[in-house]
Amino acid sequence: MSRWFESVEVARRRAQRRLPASVYSALKAGSEHGDSYADNLASFSEIGLIPRAAGGSAWFDLSTTVMGQPASMPVVISPTGVQAVHPEGEVAVARGAAERGIPMGLSSFASRDLRDVISANPSVFFQMYWMGSRDDMVRWMERARDLGAKGLILTLDWSFSHSRDWGSPYIPERVDRRAILTYLPEAMIRPRWALGFARQRRIPDLTVPNVAAADGTVPTFFGAYGTWMQTPPPTWEDIAWFVRTWAGEVMVKGVWHVDDARRAVDAGAAAISVSNHGGNNLDGTPAPLRALPAVARAVGGEVEVLMDGGIRRGSDVVKAVALGARAVMIGRAYLWGLAAEGQAGVENVLDVLRMGIESTLRGLRVDALSEVTPANLIVPDGFTRP
Ligand SMILES: Cc1cc2nc3c(=O)[nH]c(=O)nc-3n(C[C@H](O)[C@H](O)[C@H](O)COP(=O)(O)O)c2cc1C
Repeated sequence: MSRWFESVEVARRRAQRRLPASVYSALKAGSEHGDSYADNLASFSEIGLIPRAAGGSAWFDLSTTVMGQPASMPVVISPTGVQAVHPEGEVAVARGAAERGIPMGLSSFASRDLRDVISANPSVFFQMYWMGSRDDMVRWMERARDLGAKGLILTLDWSFSHSRDWGSPYIPERVDRRAILTYLPEAMIRPRWALGFARQRRIPDLTVPNVAAADGTVPTFFGAYGTWMQTPPPTWEDIAWFVRTWAGEVMVKGVWHVDDARRAVDAGAAAISVSNHGGNNLDGTPAPLRALPAVARAVGGEVEVLMDGGIRRGSDVVKAVALGARAVMIGRAYLWGLAAEGQAGVENVLDVLRMGIESTLRGLRVDALSEVTPANLIVPDGFTRP
């Protein structure tokens, strides 16, 4: 029996109570001093909303499309590579998103096979990093295409920053006897999490089946991570090659600078996501919401501009749309829901966002989300970054 929660913050607290401390800490993530992580949240709080007294609709059609995929509201599941949150993992997320009509990005570091995720939600974009050789990338793309992925997300902003002032959790290479013994004390004080895996006769799986080697060997999370670390970052020519090779819709995720947005458009991207990887990356990168207006002004007429980072409530979605986003992507919000209540928790998070969007639009007294502009907001001087 799952219990309803009224906000993403309530889901986060429930997740913190249910997860072993190290699993919770892997989800919270962040990097270095946590400035970017904090700014992602603070940026939404800095923006005010201007309520009006009369007029406007009571009911709203929030539906849109993202890279050709229908979405019941302008929200997409952002790809996250966290494995041990819930026994059903990405399949539960896919089912919850499908129930609510929401497309999903699946990380190449996901623990569940793309095949199972697509059978739960056909609206899946497969996310890739610039990792391995071109032959490897072509093989992973072709597999994604054969399995029915509707597009690719190419995430470019990773910086291999591995230190956090609050410490990083121990993540084993494999869940073997030694790892189980190490985790046992944590799991014993979080019995509900451990029982979930026991009931499904699963142990948390730390392999990444969607980026297998040419001979079919499935690497461990750290094995694939090592390959990625040894791959030099791509040039814009590489990115154009990537887009041409897929020959379909590609979102370039992790754009912050206006010039990069322009280069992504020139490379053939169908969409970009203004993002700092949820603050897990180059700490000191200001919140994507601050970069969004300039990026949307520069390329919004040519590609779909999304943003991700810090979305926790419906009014955040409205603020991002008002500042130029076609849609937003969510990361931790659905991870907290998944950790707290499995598939029902993912649906609950999406319902919280939908109701929040609707009540914000009602308070602004508008007829549609598309009507909201910066004129409905109070944006403090100096908020945006050029
Ligand atoms: C635990 C965790 C794992 C993530 N793994 C990936 C990943 O594998 N690929 C990717 O493109 N982004 C990854 N991200 C970034 C998210 O897709 C997204 O950009 C970020 O979570 C948005 O910020 P939010 O969590 O505040 O919504 C990850 C984020 C978190 C928190």
